[in-house]
Amino acid sequence: MNNNNLTGKSILITGGTGSLGKALTKYILTNHPDIKRLVIYSRDEQKQFQMAQEYPESEYPCIRYFIGDVRDYERLKRAFSGIDYVIHAAAMKHVHIAEYNPDECVKTNIGGAENVIRASLETNVERVVALSTDKACAPINLYGATKLTSDKLFIAANNIKGDKKLKFSVVRYGNVMGSNGSVVPFFLKKKEEGVLPITDPNMTRFNISLADGVQMVMNALDIAWGGELFVPKIPSYRITDVAEAIGPECVHKIVGIRPGEKVHEEMIASSDSFTTYDLGKYYVILPQVPSWDLQEYIKYFNAKKVQEGFNYSSGENSEWLGVEKLRDLIQTHVDSTFNISIEVV
Ligand SMILES: NC(=O)c1ccc[n+]([C@@H]2O[C@H](COP(=O)([O-])OP(=O)(O)OC[C@H]3O[C@@H](n4cnc5c(N)ncnc54)[C@H](OP(=O)(O)O)[C@@H]3O)[C@@H](O)[C@H]2O)c1
Repeated sequence: MNNNNLTGKSILITGGTGSLGKALTKYILTNHPDIKRLVIYSRDEQKQFQMAQEYPESEYPCIRYFIGDVRDYERLKRAFSGIDYVIHAAAMKHVHIAEYNPDECVKTNIGGAENVIRASLETNVERVVALSTDKACAPINLYGATKLTSDKLFIAANNIKGDKKLKFSVVRYGNVMGSNGSVVPFFLKKKEEGVLPITDPNMTRFNISLADGVQMVMNALDIAWGGELFVPKIPSYRITDVAEAIGPECVHKIVGIRPGEKVHEEMIASSDSFTTYDLGKYYVILPQVPSWDLQEYIKYFNAKKVQEGFNYSSGENSEWLGVEKLRDLIQTHVDSTFNISIEVV
């Protein structure tokens, strides 16, 4: 558990009905029942209606469901009134949908980030943590490019906050096991047809559990000085091992890599190595021009600078999840998080 003291604090999660938003909600309501307010901000009333069945206002008096779009600055500003901490998780996150609807992706992922920043600057928000993705590192698709832009907007926002005690930081991680639209639920569904489509037999991905993603965000809220991009040290898996873990009896059909996909993902590019530090449990990419004293930061966190040219790639990771471990994780995490009945051989 992190050391956050959230007593009396009001927190808003954009994209609060998504995979991460729901996991954060569960974590906060369980571990910080003394918060003042938890606001779930998203567009679709149906998702909010369903979430309110699980977390009704009658049982959790601090929870509020706020319909709103991150593209709507005025609505965001209203929702941020009285809020101390913002977790910005709302995004369009499907690579191929972003390619087909580029303007929509730009409006949500970049315009939304600008609005969150502006609304934070105009209200009394103290801390903002924005979610990034490995696809934002040296991006080759629009989703990644919009998230990289969003990362840069949040980091640079620390330069325009004046004397406000507001801090903006970013958390970047890789595939969340079992999250909406990810490979595990996809393979579990495809398993029923007996064929698992594999894009590239060499493909690797970083893996993080929803629980670790939640911890990462809560820690960033706690420890950020402003301008950091936090990267967790997490294992990789081979897509072929996920297929083997889920459907060893299925046909594993090679279908070819899709436009905008990489064989391996990166979280830290070698060009980031000049400002990247090892904090033990995480790496942190620091801003080019921090608004605090770098030497003080290094001393406080016992931060060790990584070697020049260092890059953090899923294909060259030192930690791997093999078939057995993947099977265990799929069984425990997906089963418990989504309450779906699966049979993993
Ligand atoms: N899942 C992963 O593997 C992964 C990995 C790395 C990083 N991330 C990042 O983590 C964040 C959360 O991902 P997730 O997996 O929780 O996503 P998700 O399950 O798809 O949820 C997205 C959430 O954002 C809301 N949303 C979308 N567009 C919105 C808009 N214009 N205004 C307000 N709300 C909007 C959605 O609700 P409505 O549709 O009702 O508005 C939903 O609550 C994203 O920023 C993503 O880029 C995810």
